[in-house]
Amino acid sequence: MARPRSLLDLEHLSPEEITSILKLAGEMQSSEPRPLLQGKRIALLFYEASTRTRVSFEFAAKLLGTHTSVISANASSIEKGESLVDTGKTLQALGADCIVLRHPSSGAPNVLARNLRVPIINAGDGMHEHPSQGLLDAYTMLRYKKQLKGLKVAMIGDIQHSRVARSNIHLLSKFGAQVVLCGPPEFLPEVALTLAPNLTISRRLEEAVRDADVVMMLRMQKERLVGLDIDVPRYMAHWQLTTELLALAKSDALVMHPGPMVRGMEIQTEVADSPQAVIEEQVHNGVYVRMAILAICTGVAA
Ligand code: CP
Repeated sequence: MARPRSLLDLEHLSPEEITSILKLAGEMQSSEPRPLLQGKRIALLFYEASTRTRVSFEFAAKLLGTHTSVISANASSIEKGESLVDTGKTLQALGADCIVLRHPSSGAPNVLARNLRVPIINAGDGMHEHPSQGLLDAYTMLRYKKQLKGLKVAMIGDIQHSRVARSNIHLLSKFGAQVVLCGPPEFLPEVALTLAPNLTISRRLEEAVRDADVVMMLRMQKERLVGLDIDVPRYMAHWQLTTELLALAKSDALVMHPGPMVRGMEIQTEVADSPQAVIEEQVHNGVYVRMAILAICTGVAA
């Protein structure tokens, strides 16, 4: 039995730690599910809306034999004013072995981890990170590409407000991918270059997509656009991935999107449904990656 540990971000994970999670996810996918976490209790504490992350963590936990409980901010004592830490302590007192937390504030999982004994898994915190998404994206890329090193990954859209972008940037940079960030200045300030090594910025979609191995589209995070007045038709005209633009990428380029995707906004529907799109596969792979994360974080696997 390994020591239980939290998963708060990818920035502070080593390539070896990331590789072991991805390897275990592969083992989870290639074998029948076993009740490795039999009898454990997993609390899914969600202060923000979610479909993919919440359901896949829940399915992953159940496939491993756990009892799960989903706590939503609008249907719990959080509505009555209970703090995040007090809610976490309540779940711990109820016997939770692990808490999966989604929260609108960056750093909320770190606060919970400092105040509780049980491991915390970050299921997306504000504009900070979404580590399980970054891991499942890498896992999906590696189903098609031999290695991440040297891949040209074009990440396009609202980078500034995207926790998915941040987790992917940290992971891909650690493995030597060539990450090209692309978007307008309000969604991609120059300071983004300081996030990690091996990053470049392009202000032209054609340039970013040309010869790319992976094109990752990101949704405009409307819920985080405080004080920004966006000209949506202009945004679509400049930054939407169309079939014409995709033709500039390598012929075997993957089209990825973490979801939720807004068809006709950041991505043309023909592109979203094209054979190059692996968007549904990302969702599918998320279950195996999250099984691996749960096993490692609860100390059942190393
Ligand atoms: N990718 C992602 O986090 O999707 P959900 O918001 O549906 O969980």
